Amino acid sequence: MLSEHDTVLHSWCRQADWSAPTIVGGAGARLHTADGRSILDMSSLAECCNLGHQHPKVVAAIREQAQKLCFVTSSWGAEPRAQLAELLLEKSGFSGGRVFFTLGGADANENAVKFARQASGKPRGQIIARERSYHGASYATMAMSGDSRTRRQVDPEAFGVLRAPPPYAYRCPFGSSTDAECGERASAHVGELIDAHQDVAAVIMEPNAGTNGIVAPANYWPALRAETSRRNVYLIADEVMSGFGRCGEWFAWQRYGEEGRPDLMTLAKGLTGAHLPLGAVVLSAEIAQRLEHEMLYTGLTYCGHPLACAAGVAAVNAYGDEHLIERSRSLGASMMLRLKALQAKHSIIGDVRGGDGLFAVLELVRDRGTRESPEVWPKSPPALRNFVRDALNRDVSFAIRGNLILLAPPLVIAENELDDALTLLDELLAAVQF
Ligand SMILES: Cc1ncc(COP(=O)(O)O)c(C=O)c1O
Repeated sequence: MLSEHDTVLHSWCRQADWSAPTIVGGAGARLHTADGRSILDMSSLAECCNLGHQHPKVVAAIREQAQKLCFVTSSWGAEPRAQLAELLLEKSGFSGGRVFFTLGGADANENAVKFARQASGKPRGQIIARERSYHGASYATMAMSGDSRTRRQVDPEAFGVLRAPPPYAYRCPFGSSTDAECGERASAHVGELIDAHQDVAAVIMEPNAGTNGIVAPANYWPALRAETSRRNVYLIADEVMSGFGRCGEWFAWQRYGEEGRPDLMTLAKGLTGAHLPLGAVVLSAEIAQRLEHEMLYTGLTYCGHPLACAAGVAAVNAYGDEHLIERSRSLGASMMLRLKALQAKHSIIGDVRGGDGLFAVLELVRDRGTRESPEVWPKSPPALRNFVRDALNRDVSFAIRGNLILLAPPLVIAENELDDALTLLDELLAAVQF
């Protein structure tokens, strides 16, 4: 068996620690290993395989497109690119808008910022992002991300980025005692930051689920929209992780209807269900109009790659045809009930958040009364790393970040698989001690 252990530089780990089975296939919510195991994926890998693994219709669409046309640059038209742009504008209700395709989430966010700066007439305008956020690992998106892991590598000021405290209700930076108050204070603070700086071009935030474990209180996003609209500042919704059913809607902001509509939104991950790399920036009609007769100084060789767009079209159709957005909403609600029951049983579960779709975060604490963390974020406590190892030995893969367990299974997960995974979670949490 050829192993990549000594040859590949792996992300987000110490190379010497990297040790993982080789995956050779998959089906539904399961991954198949080279040594014949079938592993239940409770995180959709990097919260991206929303359609499960090897979705047959997406695989067929890729095969079909590959036989017709693998690639043409965006100087030429390509059918799947046109189809996907139309579908995205339709699902998001951004009629009259436009779609710019990228290769993933980070470049979608970088380009969204470029468009917002250009359309606002502030080519170097400031961008407000928040602490405990993640927008990618390119330099500009590291500057936007409020992520302690990469803080020392980049100077946000050099990239024109200002940071706002997060709507982290469990440990509210504003000292609020309720979720609603935290959401209110955090959104109002963004308004104050805009007022204090004359040249803010845009605010970029994750509307709901976030890689860094924040789930904003329900009142946060519409309030943020109101704060930015009132000041004519563009709002960019980073839907890279929260889109495509993860939060029980096509796009998480849709939970708030028109009151939540951003000016731009960025997509990746679930856009093709991760079958091929693809990202997108969806622009409102108003922004598209402003850019219509201006030169656009940006581009990527693989903008709107036809193969990836064909995968995107098939993926979007699969979400719709298989009612996966609604499924995520209802399974997310029942998962949340189970997790609340686990919280009542296990005193190390300090907080449970999410559940608008198949996304939830368990925040683990040493002591529920004091909310003391077992380890300083983003370090993971050894007991939690052992939990991941023990679960994997039982053929279930869970994702952790610091003292958080992130649950984000594929939206196609069978009900009994979800049930079994939560039963295992219950059993293994009983053995976790900080
Ligand atoms: C909210 C969010 N934005 C952006 C990104 C970056 O996407 P990519 O890894 O495709 O560059 C991620 C990836 O985890 C994400 O969760």
